[in-house]
Order: sequence, then C-alpha cells, then structure tokens
Amino acid sequence: MRKPYIAANWKMMKNLAETEEFISSFIPLVEGITDADILLAPPFTSLSLSAQMLLPTNVKLGAQNMFYEESGAYTGEISADMLLFAGCSTVIIGHSERRQYFGETNETVNKKIKMARSRGLEVILCIGESLEDRESGKTFDLLSAQLAGSLKDITMDGVTVAYEPIWAIGTGKTATPQIANETHIHIREWLSKNKENSDGVRIQYGGSVKPENIGELISESEIDGALVGGASLKPDSFANIVKGAIK
Ligand code: PGA
Repeated sequence: MRKPYIAANWKMMKNLAETEEFISSFIPLVEGITDADILLAPPFTSLSLSAQMLLPTNVKLGAQNMFYEESGAYTGEISADMLLFAGCSTVIIGHSERRQYFGETNETVNKKIKMARSRGLEVILCIGESLEDRESGKTFDLLSAQLAGSLKDITMDGVTVAYEPIWAIGTGKTATPQIANETHIHIREWLSKNKENSDGVRIQYGGSVKPENIGELISESEIDGALVGGASLKPDSFANIVKGAIK
C-alpha cells in the first residue's frame, strides 16, 4: 500500500503574516502524524519563513512552479537551486492554471521536471482534462498524451502524479470517487506500461477536495492522496483532510 500524500497548494494566496499564522496553528494539529506525507506549497515570498517554521516538523515544503533554465537573464523566474536554498524539497509542475494562464505545455513541463529532478527536487506533476474533453470522451487519450509528453525520458523516482480534472478545480464539483478512481486506474496502467518501477508512484486526486469528501476518495483503490487548493487555506480544514486520508 502506498502512503497517503496530502499537499496544500495555496496558489496566489497568503502573505507572510498569514503564512506565519497558518503554520503556527497547523503544526500542533498534525504533530506526530507519520502515516501520511504532508506538504505545504505557499507562494515564493513565503518559502523562507515557512522553511524555518517547518524545519523541526513532519511537514515538507514545496513551491508551486519553477523555470527550467539553471540561471540567467529570465526576469521574474525562479530556478531549481533557488528553491533548494529556500528549503524546498518539492515543486509542483504543470498545474492547469499554469497551462491555462501562462502558456505551459507538455514540452515546457518536461523540461522543468528534468531540471527539478537533476537537482534532487521531488516533483508533483499535474495533469487533467477540461469538461469539454470529458464530455467528448477524450479524457483517457488526453491524459495519456499529457503523461507521455511531460514524462518523456524521465524516470519515476521522486515523481508524484496529481490528477486534477479542470472542471473540478475551485468549482465545488468533485469528480465522484468512482470517476476519479477509474481515471487513476487509467493513469496507473499507463505508468505500468511505460515506466519502470512505477508501482510505488503515488497518484493524488485534486479538485474541490475537502474534509467531508477525503474519506470516500482515499478509500478508492488507486487514490493515494490529494492536492488541495481552497480547503488547504484554513489550518483546521487542512488538518482534517490529512487525518481523513489516513486509511
Ligand atoms: P481546489 O484546487 O481544491 O480549490 O479545487 C485544487 C488545485 O488546483 O490544486
């Protein structure tokens, strides 16, 4: 059985003071939990403070994005080394909002994963289909193409996949646990066929996960955790998701 992995993606939310307030309240709520891996991915400006506060705890730190070049004249970008020095163990790559608003493609996602892994950063790779794709029956083909493009020439060591149907992100619509699991089974089959040693790879579900639905999601055979947006912004709510994910 794979250990549940619950990650908070704060997106463009929380300044330093709000970050400090969250972490101070959250840590006591999850102290001593070892049956789930927990990650916080705050905005870049909160990384250093979060790293200091999380250092003595069981909660890991991640970033929400990075650039694929090592360093150079790339105004506004952040490198893998900068994330490492800021105390991150992990980076989220290819979130649908990055693909939708910032022009990320499977090709740029692939370059970013390669750079992150070459520096030892763990990766959460996000994939997912739009409502239009789902309704026209293209979900599995599209996800296979996202996996093939994003994971080209990459071994699965240190990589987690997050399946996030775009139509379920921030909308309050969760995929039913059955629909999510069916899709996770497809992803698992793709990984088994195309990547060596992928049995241990965790597949998170993301899209309107909350304390009320984590239990039924995690009880599905191939759902190994969650990538949580809105419901990760309050300490109680996120702690209850972590607790609800322990099978
Ligand atoms: P949500 O976001 O939980 O607010 O739907 C999930 C995500 O985008 O990672």
